[in-house]
Amino acid sequence: MTTVQPKPTTTQEIGGIGHSVKRREDDRFIAGQGNYLDDHTLPGMLHMAILRSPVAHARIKSIDTSGAAAIDGVVAVVTGELLAQYNLAWMPTMSGDTQAVLATDKVRFQGQEIAAVVATDPYIAEDALEHIDVDYEILPAITSPQQAMAPGAVLIRDDKEGQTDNSVYEWESGDAAATEAAFAKADRVVALETFYPRSHPAPLETCGILADVNSVSGQATIYMTSQAPHAHRTVFAMVAGLPEQNIRIISPDIGGGFGNKVPVYPGYVVATAASLVIGKPVKWVESRTENLISTGFARDYYMKGELALTNEGRILALRVEMLSDQGAFYADAQPTAFKAGLFHVVTGSYDYPAAHVKTRGAYTNKAPGGVAYRCSFRITEASYLIERLVQTAAYELGIDPAEMRFKNFIQPEQFPYETPTGFVYDSGDYPTALRKALDEVGYESLRAEQAKARAEGRLLGIGIAHFTEAVGAGPSKRYDILGLKMIDSAELRIHPTGKAILKLGVKSQGQGHATTFAQIVANELGIPADDVKVLEGDTDNTPYGLGTYASRSTPVGGAATAMISRTLAEKAKKIAAHLLEAADADIELESGTFSVKGSPDRSVTIQDVALAAYTNLPDGMEYGLEGVHYYDPPNLTYPYGSYVVVVEVDPETGVWKVQRMIALDDCGVRINPMIVEGQIHGGLTEGFAKSSMQWITFDDDGNCIGSNFMDYLIPTAWETPKFELLETCVPSPHHPIGAKGVGESATVGSPAAFVNAVIDAIAHLGVRNIDMPLLPDRVWSAIQSAPGQSAGSGSGSG
Ligand code: CDP
Repeated sequence: MTTVQPKPTTTQEIGGIGHSVKRREDDRFIAGQGNYLDDHTLPGMLHMAILRSPVAHARIKSIDTSGAAAIDGVVAVVTGELLAQYNLAWMPTMSGDTQAVLATDKVRFQGQEIAAVVATDPYIAEDALEHIDVDYEILPAITSPQQAMAPGAVLIRDDKEGQTDNSVYEWESGDAAATEAAFAKADRVVALETFYPRSHPAPLETCGILADVNSVSGQATIYMTSQAPHAHRTVFAMVAGLPEQNIRIISPDIGGGFGNKVPVYPGYVVATAASLVIGKPVKWVESRTENLISTGFARDYYMKGELALTNEGRILALRVEMLSDQGAFYADAQPTAFKAGLFHVVTGSYDYPAAHVKTRGAYTNKAPGGVAYRCSFRITEASYLIERLVQTAAYELGIDPAEMRFKNFIQPEQFPYETPTGFVYDSGDYPTALRKALDEVGYESLRAEQAKARAEGRLLGIGIAHFTEAVGAGPSKRYDILGLKMIDSAELRIHPTGKAILKLGVKSQGQGHATTFAQIVANELGIPADDVKVLEGDTDNTPYGLGTYASRSTPVGGAATAMISRTLAEKAKKIAAHLLEAADADIELESGTFSVKGSPDRSVTIQDVALAAYTNLPDGMEYGLEGVHYYDPPNLTYPYGSYVVVVEVDPETGVWKVQRMIALDDCGVRINPMIVEGQIHGGLTEGFAKSSMQWITFDDDGNCIGSNFMDYLIPTAWETPKFELLETCVPSPHHPIGAKGVGESATVGSPAAFVNAVIDAIAHLGVRNIDMPLLPDRVWSAIQSAPGQSAGSGSGSG
């Protein structure tokens, strides 16, 4: 006997918005059926390995590849000189600079690509690299932007016509005159100089490509670890001169991206060129060290901020100077209009009339990058500066750091709020968010406990950070990458049985798109989320889009999904009206049921309508129920959060332990709360790692220290503190479903909270500033050299 399952009708049953539907993609991953780049093989496939520079800065006198070429199994050795014959020795970067594909004149950072071996076996290719002889004339290495900008510094980019120094860009935002005027009338000026160290996204899966260019048909099928397959297809067409319709990029399952899989790397270009010339598929997969030493880093911003203040603690203006270390090529993946990314969002969550931000970038002998690593285009650095600065100002003025924020917050009734640097924040209720987080931690009694602990010689610290992020790039009038407008798309096709396929321009790297985007369709049309298959990452079979990074999938791709669902709902209503013999205007849609206003018993389901779309239409209507929508957002969306961290610092060793971490996030309407919490956990863990243990440094010769997981530490469950999550939910008024992005927020907000907490523990000694990572020895020496010296002395939070 068969039981007939009742039709799912409630939003929970259909997996609509707001429900923690289990991630559909996980069944496959748990069963070992992930389909990553390195899982792909093709008949006759060859393997490529890349020779990288062991030194940071040197002129190349000669390259002798004969030893490698003579090895059995080596099919080709590729050099820059060879690529130059195809006009491929240099390529454009995402920021419109040029980058060497394989070095011809000089090497400019340790790990730079010099030559590649293509062989029948990956081990043969790797071993053959040792038989390439490169003769270098070593040049002095420049390892900091300050060194790079000093008069007389050796010129790194002597390949660029007209380039006479190491300056990459100068850019400013805000109103210099209004800011000067506000500073002139300020009671107090508080300044802070800080540094956000170079970081690396370090995804579990490294970058790679399998390029298959058919030399007869000209068809290039390229499997690639790409967060932005459509944009990459266009860049490939521009770089390689291949007709765009002949390029198919397939971005399979991706084992983490975090911005690292947005830039176009030389290895991609060399493998594609090798396949084109040899006529066989060529695969290249990076090693861990290659990934850490040469692919897109993040941060590396030296920042100086000044606040003009009244004696009562009201902020009047902000002045910022920033110097960024761009590495040897300017390869930030960011909107072209903003030379320093969206760093000018540095005004934060506070209401004041004037700000002026001056930024400069410098070439150094380090790997290029500046990717949107778990943040929207350099917003992490900005948020770090303003939150550290506000805490410093609170100490200088003797005001409680929470009170300082309440005094200056943009108030709920001020939204939409235009910042002095031109962002229009859409919505928010910052005081409620911070109050909720403070209440959860018991802030007032904690401050009393802190004072008592100090009297006993214990160092308790309470750190606050309240951040606003700007995500969902972006409105076409301001946002483009290499001229490509930052729109995104969704194509929805509903089959006769009422099942659907949703094709997207964005591309998941673990964010759960197959689940959440199906939930949006379920919410709009009442088709159960389980009945919606989501397809991404194949440029021949999905509509154009700029990809997934900088928390743009939900604000842009999610909006496109809602919009096309609504368009189809309108057509479906007309079909329902035809089936129910009612007027179009009388049809209502609720959780997949179309009924006649006032006669709820006269109804048909979305499944009935789907069948009718192919079998029984009103006169003159076109068959089918499908369409595509390209979404151009009217504004960015502005998620925010209030974080509170409690730490205890050991005065004898500088070791600091997190006692509590409260993270309140507001991303507007949560599509899948469970996935949102997962995203936040990831970001908080990253923020903790950054503030406590993770950095990439370089010695004076430009040798990278941090190109393996023994030096570049990945946080595990062992050292990561417990996170206590809270939420508020102020929808974005201009987003079709009120959702704001969330993917990166926690990394944006948390480092300042951790650092502020450690500094708060020793602020009464006069310590105002320690750079990340706050390793025990740094904290310990800050305690030792503090003007107040004795750990138990002093009182109050400042
Ligand atoms: O661009 P990316 O996917 O990294 O970031 P996002 O769209 O801001 O958020 C990451 C994931 O969190 C999304 O893919 C959704 O799965 C989920 N999310 C959600 O469920 N509700 C929101 N309001 C925002 C994100």
